[in-house]
Amino acid sequence: MSTTENLPIDLQSVKGTRDFYPEQMKLRNWLFNIWRNTALQFGFEEYDACVLEHAELYTRKAGDEITEQLYSFHDKGGRLLSLRPEMTPSLARMVLQRQKALSLPLKWFSIPQCFRYERMTRGRRREHFQWNADIIGQPSEVAEAEIFSLLLMSCENMGLNSEEIRVFVNDRRILNAILSKINVPEQQQAQIMIVMDKRDKLPPDVFVEMLQQEQMTTAQVDQLNNFLSCQSMEELATELGGSQGLIALRQVMDLVAQAGFENYLQFDVSIVRGLSYYTGTVFEMNVVGKSQRAICGGGRYDSLLSTYGGAEIPAVGFGFGDVVIMDVLSDLKKLPTFDHQLDYMVIPFSAEEIGTAISISNQLRQKGDSVECDYSLKKVKKVLQRADELKVQKVVLLFPDELAAGEVVLRDMKTRQQENVAIEDLVSS
Ligand code: HAM
Repeated sequence: MSTTENLPIDLQSVKGTRDFYPEQMKLRNWLFNIWRNTALQFGFEEYDACVLEHAELYTRKAGDEITEQLYSFHDKGGRLLSLRPEMTPSLARMVLQRQKALSLPLKWFSIPQCFRYERMTRGRRREHFQWNADIIGQPSEVAEAEIFSLLLMSCENMGLNSEEIRVFVNDRRILNAILSKINVPEQQQAQIMIVMDKRDKLPPDVFVEMLQQEQMTTAQVDQLNNFLSCQSMEELATELGGSQGLIALRQVMDLVAQAGFENYLQFDVSIVRGLSYYTGTVFEMNVVGKSQRAICGGGRYDSLLSTYGGAEIPAVGFGFGDVVIMDVLSDLKKLPTFDHQLDYMVIPFSAEEIGTAISISNQLRQKGDSVECDYSLKKVKKVLQRADELKVQKVVLLFPDELAAGEVVLRDMKTRQQENVAIEDLVSS
């Protein structure tokens, strides 16, 4: 017998994870419905994968912070498995597995739950849901334009506008051009970008120290900081001369303007992204003043599939988490309230009427109404209070006298009006 058998168990959910009580579940479903419906409107198809993956899928590319945040364990067969920290590697794996059968470009979306052993700060938890939308096999900037349109239309569907949120965009090739310009060897650039991604979160002296640990000289760090203070693409173009990244980004911006979302995009040379698989456009969405953790992040990753052993297949997409957006919508008082929940509540007066209550309830449900049957047999006043709490529209009272005449008392909970209605009419109307 276990010695802990009689000890009370910890009722808290695991640190960093959430329980979704019905009131939170309503909000979660509201958000997921917007994500799903907007994706479907854009012609994206839904996919899913198991939350468990081989740990190797994430650890092949060492250096990314995400590989240090893995929840991993050996299963009973000795396999090293991980709870997925993000969906992109699973997506790449699924595409590669069916590479020959799939006709590109693919437009796929998913709403997976992801797990990362994060340091807990506002907007970052150890479990979150993340809407992923990706276009696989489209090398042109039209893919970015479509991805941005999808993202921003979903935000407008949540009631947000360009005065509240912004997508800060950059291109990894611009960052490579800057690093090459200040003589950072190509093979060192990926490591330096991992540090650059942390710039906003670090005190300036620590940032400098970390860059120096990556073999950068003080002069190079100063030059880099100068570049990172450039406000516009024009300013950078003058400094860098031509850069493929600048040309591509201009093209993306023009297409997004045509899509009607121009006011949302803002060039920001400090956007790097923590995942090293990005090769072109990179972006993060935040509130205008950037006071939150990123609401959404993504970009172009044209070599990820080939690093898993497949062909070079261009890809672009984003992950949009459910945690920060809820904080943002709550701060802006834009979370919805849910008024109408149930069409009917059926109330038997005594045990005698329970059978009839079940029968009427199911007949109403069969014609598509939502119905709660209250079996408490409490005083009618009490049950009506509960009906109010549940935001029921109409109550069906089953009293013996009316039932004997084949009728029920129908009460409109808004107007408080009552009328006698034939059961036949109620269930057939
Ligand atoms: P990511 O920037 O690591 O990108 O995550 C994307 C979004 O997921 C973040 O902007 C945030 O909304 C949410 N998120 C990430 N970690 C947490 C956390 N610990 N707690 C709460 N929310 C979080 C990726 O995961 C890429 N795979 C996205 C992507 C898809 N790129 C291309 N396709």
